[in-house]
Amino acid sequence: MTGEATAGGGPAGRGWREATEAALYGPGGFYRRPEGPAGHFRTSVHASALFAGAVARLLCRVDEALGRPATLDFVDMAAGRGELVSGVLAALPAPVAARTRAYAVEIAGRPSGLDERIVWRSEPPPAVTGLLFANEWLDNVPVDVAEVDAAGVPRLVLVADDGSERLGPPVPGPEARWLARWWPLPAEEGLRAEIGLPRDRAWAAAVGRMEQGLAVAVDYAHTAPARPPYGTLTGFREGRETAPVPDGSCDITAHVALDACAEACRAARTTPTPPGAAPAPADAARTPSEQAHTLTGARLLTQRAALRALDLAGARPPLALASTDPAAYVRALASAGEAAELTAPGGLGDFGWLLVPVGIADPLA
Ligand SMILES: C[S@@+](CC[C@H](N)C(=O)[O-])C[C@H]1O[C@@H](n2cnc3c(N)ncnc32)[C@H](O)[C@@H]1O
Repeated sequence: MTGEATAGGGPAGRGWREATEAALYGPGGFYRRPEGPAGHFRTSVHASALFAGAVARLLCRVDEALGRPATLDFVDMAAGRGELVSGVLAALPAPVAARTRAYAVEIAGRPSGLDERIVWRSEPPPAVTGLLFANEWLDNVPVDVAEVDAAGVPRLVLVADDGSERLGPPVPGPEARWLARWWPLPAEEGLRAEIGLPRDRAWAAAVGRMEQGLAVAVDYAHTAPARPPYGTLTGFREGRETAPVPDGSCDITAHVALDACAEACRAARTTPTPPGAAPAPADAARTPSEQAHTLTGARLLTQRAALRALDLAGARPPLALASTDPAAYVRALASAGEAAELTAPGGLGDFGWLLVPVGIADPLA
């Protein structure tokens, strides 16, 4: 934490949420740049086509659970340049692909040359029957940061364009309540927390678009028993982790309190709208019978467990294959390496998968 004056960026005056919003999504923002996310870091989607294959198998299970509807929605939420939705369409069995309506939901513009079957939107369609899949979205939903001062009071951290910080006012009402519920800060100077309320709301709104099917959020996550004492706010630029600087030059990200997101969507889906009152925003486009769908059990598991449940095979091929079919052996070896990366302890395998079935049984159970 720095003092009052800030070098280069003027006096720090904005919370991290507002500063990040402008830096990532404002005019000329980081995520509006032509190179896209893949120019700066690797997600599971970029790591291997096996990931899209597993998501395609998940979509097929959702399709079965829905009784093979005439139109099956697949929504790639926060789609980057549409890599996942393209891979899923390519991996689907032809009869399922023929019934699939594929959406990429993304703040950035549609990339040229994208498969014409993919509908590009800036927000999810109002009613989804199928699978909504959000890979590394919520960590990029901007959040404010709180830090405990010398008197033991959690204060908002203010930041200048050069990344220098100072403490602002005490954390206000709804954010303070979120901290108390999900990330209580002991009165020890310097402890920090990222206030996940905007992510809870974003996820609840996305789940609110589900008519029937499954919503999945995949991200690096933590839960109440193991919050990081100083938070996780960081930056990425050209493949490297950097200090987070809200000037549009780098990604700004923080791990996601997925347990809070799970609870937020459960509450949003099960709270009845009082008679005569306007429906909650997430339910605004829904009929009363649709709103009556309750969540049949949101569940959090690791990517390793989720991909194993989706039959992602990581076993090395038998050595005998090397002599009978060397090309197949090399392919199988590469595939095993990619599966190992997607399920690696200490890496992508530790990511959290938040599954929210809506009106169907959990297809990974
Ligand atoms: C870390 S990238 C992940 C891209 C892709 N899902 C992947 O896994 O490779 C995050 C993406 O989320 C997008 N994004 C953030 N907030 C969004 C929102 N509210 N609606 C649509 N896209 C959003 C950003 O523009 C960015 O492309």
